[in-house]
Amino acid sequence: MKNTNKRVEEILSKMSLKDKIGQLNQDIIKVSELDKAKKAIKEKRVGSLILSSSAFAGNEFQEGAKADLINEVQKYAMDELGIPILFGRDVIHGHKTVYPIPLAMAASFNSDLIKKSYEEIALEASNEGVNWTFTPMLDVSRDPRWGRIIESPGEDPYVGAKMAEAVVKGLQGDDLTKQEKIVACAKHFIGYGQSEGGRDYHRTEISDYTLRNYYLKAFKAASEAGVKTVMSSFNEISGQPVSSSKYLMQDVLKDEIGFDGFIVSDWGAIVQLINQGVAEDEKEAAYLSINAGLDMDMVDYCYGYLEELIEEGKVDIETINESVRRILTVKVEAGLFDNPYITPVKIDYEKHAETSCKLASESMVLLKNEGILPLSKDSKIALIGPMTTEKRALLGSWTLDFDLEKTVTIFDGIKNIAPNATIETRSNYDEMGAAIRKSDVVILALGESDQVTGEARSLASIEISDMQKDIIKRAKLYGKKVIGVMCFGRCVALESVEPYFDAILYAWHLGSQTGNAAAKIIFGDEVPSGKTAVTFPRVTGQIPLYYNVSSSGRNVNGYYGIENLSNYEDVKGSPMYPFGYGLSYTTYNYSNLKVDNTKINLCDIEKGKCVKVSVDVKNTGNYDAKEIVQCYVMM
Ligand code: GLC
Repeated sequence: MKNTNKRVEEILSKMSLKDKIGQLNQDIIKVSELDKAKKAIKEKRVGSLILSSSAFAGNEFQEGAKADLINEVQKYAMDELGIPILFGRDVIHGHKTVYPIPLAMAASFNSDLIKKSYEEIALEASNEGVNWTFTPMLDVSRDPRWGRIIESPGEDPYVGAKMAEAVVKGLQGDDLTKQEKIVACAKHFIGYGQSEGGRDYHRTEISDYTLRNYYLKAFKAASEAGVKTVMSSFNEISGQPVSSSKYLMQDVLKDEIGFDGFIVSDWGAIVQLINQGVAEDEKEAAYLSINAGLDMDMVDYCYGYLEELIEEGKVDIETINESVRRILTVKVEAGLFDNPYITPVKIDYEKHAETSCKLASESMVLLKNEGILPLSKDSKIALIGPMTTEKRALLGSWTLDFDLEKTVTIFDGIKNIAPNATIETRSNYDEMGAAIRKSDVVILALGESDQVTGEARSLASIEISDMQKDIIKRAKLYGKKVIGVMCFGRCVALESVEPYFDAILYAWHLGSQTGNAAAKIIFGDEVPSGKTAVTFPRVTGQIPLYYNVSSSGRNVNGYYGIENLSNYEDVKGSPMYPFGYGLSYTTYNYSNLKVDNTKINLCDIEKGKCVKVSVDVKNTGNYDAKEIVQCYVMM
């Protein structure tokens, strides 16, 4: 680190004020508009370029990166500035190979496999010139109306922390100078997941108690894992927009937690301080954010006013130097000064597909099984529903560079894994009866479009559509066993349809290998082990409903089925499926539970004292399988 500091100081000492301010700005680069990027570099207005065509990268087509074009721009920057460009892109859960959405990944509880997935994701993205990605998204959330819950690690701070560590280590590795490693970004700091009413971009009301006990833990873990950047969020917390909060960005994140990378704003989050009523104009927005510790401005160029603000004595040059130091340090640590260019390598996409398939299998959650799964591989199956041959939705939101042709549908997966199965399928649901009569079992492939998940895609109701409810009820009329394969990004309300199913396999949006992964579970090649990392409410009206809720005076926590005062008159107080729920094909016996210290207090824990809990777990069923052993602590 000492050499890095020395090197950064040397670079800083040769920079003019204009050079320095340029480093604090990020602009858009479209590979079709390279001259625009070069002009921004020549005018010393940028230190980073985001490969993005619009503010809604998660939902709209985005021009891709090309290594040779990125190298051309990087060479121009090295010649003009002598400082390399950070090329950012939203590589959230895959690049060409798409892995499960993060909310699904969290259900695997498999940090090692998640880390391995992000090693592969970093390799694919870096090979096309991306050296900075805006992930992991660490917004713990309890509200499936919020479209962005699909990018989150779910409702639990500990799971959020484990996801943070796995993703950061996978992307950045132990040596960030290696070409196949890319700079990670923990986002969105902080509290965005509590957007009021599940409406995206809305205000949040978060006490310091809740901030520290729920939302901060994942960011602390990301910082401890060495994440090099953090993205400030759009939301306000109790009247104070995060992107102008010195308390949150400087005092808590940088000073208290010790985050030593740099903070980038979310897209336009600085200029939006005007709408949030704390800044008169762009200049005042810049004044507030830079003095609050926000180092880099994403695409709204408010930081173009910094030179004036320094001349007016409103921003100290040392504040600028500190932000520039942080940004230069990341560029040095990423090896960009020594190796600014990409040399594309050959990638084993088959191997990546296998990893994606394995993680997808472990992310699936078996919610119900009345002895019908697994099926034999010579079954006669009526495969009905909108997700039968659907491809794009399976990839989920926030996938920019996917190879759609390589996406395995539910239909393809069943053919691949059980080639001797007979599949009857009908696109016209009025003809489903003919298919079902010829079959032994019905598989309904249901779900939601990627376009109703992700950014600016919230839903007022998490009920499944009336059309799909109608398919379910009609399919059941034929007296055959009915299996639901549910390809939804968020957890949806299933109470009204659960009785019609003999089995429910929750397949989220699992990426390129969805079909193969689902078929492996359906036919028993893989045994389901996933446990949901988010609560499934019975109905929308129960939201927010989450397991780690503090007890009330009358102990009316109806979460675990203590059906008492706490409940609504019209709906049970317990969830449809609780956090941590998921079935297997086998059974387990837990015995010999031991706790080595039943008396410990908070002070002991804060001093690092631990409680050791052990239990014997025996597989008492007929399948080799994996069990996720869960231990909960009540303070
Ligand atoms: C978007 C998102 C953020 C993303 C950024 C760049 O508005 O909020 O998650 O990384 O802008 O596309």
